Amino acid sequence: MRYASSSADRRRFLNALSIASLAAFAPRGAFAQQLMETVETTEGPFYPDKLPLDTDNDLLILNDAITPAVGEITHLTGRVFTSSGLPVRNAFIEIWQTDVDGSYVHTGGRQEKKPYDVNFQGYGRFLSDAKGQYYFRTIKPVEYTLNGAHRCPHIHVAVSQNGRRIFTSQFLIKGHPANVGDGLVKRLDPKALQTILVDFTPLHGSKLGELTANVDVVLGKTYNELQPMSKDSLKGTAKSTSQRGGRL
Ligand SMILES: [Fe+2]
Repeated sequence: MRYASSSADRRRFLNALSIASLAAFAPRGAFAQQLMETVETTEGPFYPDKLPLDTDNDLLILNDAITPAVGEITHLTGRVFTSSGLPVRNAFIEIWQTDVDGSYVHTGGRQEKKPYDVNFQGYGRFLSDAKGQYYFRTIKPVEYTLNGAHRCPHIHVAVSQNGRRIFTSQFLIKGHPANVGDGLVKRLDPKALQTILVDFTPLHGSKLGELTANVDVVLGKTYNELQPMSKDSLKGTAKSTSQRGGRL
């Protein structure tokens, strides 16, 4: 029997691969820098208009499929903090991004001449643990052009609590050449931009060329402004997000 809950997925992945070992690849000194509030961005138009059948934190495998998605395997980890640096547990974290050819899980976000990679989940969710940690297995994002707009590679990210969205942003690849001409990058203050630029580094010892990417999210809220999240409120979040359109 397959358990689809986020907690089951978390146990599975925490057992399979230690977040702590991956986080060890984060650059020294990153912690102090990351206590600066993470900049928020717009959600963009391509939040899934219909959620995939599988919504766990492994975007490479849909349900019990054997064939994985195409792309550079990336272990995306990090922690969620309050503005004063306290870890936030049970934060409902969502990510979504295009497949390797630049198509979203969105009917309006598909490349015309390339079929969507049916093995790529394109969207995932996770509840942060007691240390505020999250983990996704996904692909390294790629640049794309959709609706006439060219974008540098990015992974959309959102955090909710009690069924309410409290944070929305995008993770970008530090040093990627397409960042220079990107509309979002141009609009952001350079210091704020630093909070969402992420190093994608080779996973030590991986024969598959896997990558690690570690990025913390510092919310602009104190501990008292955040309420503990119950299982019931998670249901509410899932319902409300599936019913939402592509924009906030
Ligand atoms: Fe996007």
